[in-house]
Amino acid sequence: MTALRITINGRAHPPMDVRDDLTMNDFLREYLGMTGTKFGCGAAQCLSCAIIVDDPDGTSHTSPTCVVPAVSFDGKSIRTVEGHAKNGELTALQKAFIDHFAFQCGYCTAGFLNEGQALLERLAKKPIVRGQLEATIAEAFDGHLCRCTGYIKYHEAVRDVILADSSRYIAAGG
Ligand code: FES
Ligand code: FES
Repeated sequence: MTALRITINGRAHPPMDVRDDLTMNDFLREYLGMTGTKFGCGAAQCLSCAIIVDDPDGTSHTSPTCVVPAVSFDGKSIRTVEGHAKNGELTALQKAFIDHFAFQCGYCTAGFLNEGQALLERLAKKPIVRGQLEATIAEAFDGHLCRCTGYIKYHEAVRDVILADSSRYIAAGG
């Protein structure tokens, strides 16, 4: 057992004793009732279970949760799909997913949303030239599986968000 200390969506949870073999996915879904993070393949192959990890240097990255022990997140700060909207207001990316009909069953959506958000934050820190945009989005979403709408609608949605605020995400002259 480990006394897990973790911050989720900005809220520091008091230490919780968890088994060392408990996965992060079970911790979120079964211990905390946060079922927005999905369980798909259970084998690190679909990324429907991906969350955002905020690193101490201000950068962020996504991580699967289905095969990763909860205790490996001890002392870390993470974000899940439940943390995107603020005071009932959807983010630009959430709105774009809806506008593009990017999902049907929604099983993959939390993973795509977290990946897209991490991409936006990365580009805001380090803008790219316009010519790199399509490959950059495709690379970010690589590994995320969707059995319903395919991938182009998610791709178009995040592209729209980037181009709607291009001075933030696209390098000058790019
Ligand atoms: S459920 Fe985690 S990668 Fe598929
Ligand atoms: S919307 Fe159903 S799997 Fe992607």
